[in-house]
Amino acid sequence: MDVERVRRDFPIYSSRRGDIVYFDNACQTFRPRQVIEAANDYYFDFPACGGRSVHHLATQVSIKIDEAREKIAHFIGCANPNEIAFTKNCTEGLNLVAKGLRYKKGDAVLTTDMEHNSNHVPWLQLATSVGVKRKFVKTPSDGIFDLEAFKRALSKDVKIVSLVHTNNVTGTTIPAKEVVEIAHDHGALVMLDGAQAAPHMKIDVKGLGVDFYAFSMHKMLGPSGVGVLYAEEGAGKDIEPLITGGGGVSLTEYDSATYLPAPDRFEAGLMNYSGVIGSGAAVDYLSTIGMEEIRDHDTALNSFVTKRLMEIELIRILEPVDPRKRGSIMSFNVDGLGSHDVAMILDEMDKVMIRSGMHCTHPFFTSRGIDGCARASFYIYNTIVECERFVRAVSGLVDTFSM
Ligand SMILES: Cc1ncc(COP(=O)(O)O)c(C=O)c1O
Repeated sequence: MDVERVRRDFPIYSSRRGDIVYFDNACQTFRPRQVIEAANDYYFDFPACGGRSVHHLATQVSIKIDEAREKIAHFIGCANPNEIAFTKNCTEGLNLVAKGLRYKKGDAVLTTDMEHNSNHVPWLQLATSVGVKRKFVKTPSDGIFDLEAFKRALSKDVKIVSLVHTNNVTGTTIPAKEVVEIAHDHGALVMLDGAQAAPHMKIDVKGLGVDFYAFSMHKMLGPSGVGVLYAEEGAGKDIEPLITGGGGVSLTEYDSATYLPAPDRFEAGLMNYSGVIGSGAAVDYLSTIGMEEIRDHDTALNSFVTKRLMEIELIRILEPVDPRKRGSIMSFNVDGLGSHDVAMILDEMDKVMIRSGMHCTHPFFTSRGIDGCARASFYIYNTIVECERFVRAVSGLVDTFSM
């Protein structure tokens, strides 16, 4: 991958803010010119409402939305664009499924013990409001998903298995295909939280056989405010829409409403057209580079940084230590310093931006008695030179503050 060429597509690097190291990509990535232009085209050229009005501007919006839906379907290995619903983010997709399923007494959900709050809090709510039972797969201290523990936890009452595909703190990826097969053998549905997986690896929802797959476009070069929910046609039919209203129904009477088939039933209300169109451009951009290339690049940067940080005394890398098991994520702590202090000092002293705290994965930290961690996360425009600057900055910070 020609990183210098990639960087030229990202306006921030040629702006007055350009002298930065941005390693907060697991939170949100930068956007290339191609995405910004595609999103802006909507506002410049055809700023109308899709799907409802019949005039030619509206028709153009509808065509562009259909194109984006097809591109995203294709990007995740799905031939049927009607299985792709646009949401406002990954969180909404996870909520849509969790709250749209119909439960009977005794039904349970199985998650890991290290889910992002977006795949934890909706189930907490359902435990209180509907009595859905919670079951957890415990993660060993090496951070690697325990398939045997998963099998043991899969009791008959588990209606749905809802797991993080790639974890946002440890960077580990679960063996999704095996998980789906085992869960289906037990009669459970499977939803994957792909927020940290879809930006960094080739996703093939049909190959995985998963029922629901949710992710956010802003973590993969797309505009803010767009999420994607893949809902397999059969499984999606049983999901009640989370948001109801205009655009999601074929006909209403004073006392009844008939919902449209997916994806419209899940997309009531006027959509983020510009964002959806920009999302189509984002997957075009990623496809041109190639997801294998992206994965290799992330791993190369992570390996470089890991090796160098391991040489610094007082640095504790969150397990697993092997960078090949952590994709683009590098979580660590500096003995004696809080993670927010680490992040603020790196930014103030060296314009190196990382994330700190509990990363919306509170139970992971509280159950382990850790109050957070610093997290660097890499993407296509990051370079080895930036990694060197990051390592120098961390090393300088340790020297200064460990005295
Ligand atoms: C693993 C994981 N799941 C879910 C989310 C929620 O994504 P969003 O805030 O875009 O809905 C995130 C965001 O960081 C995440 O890392």
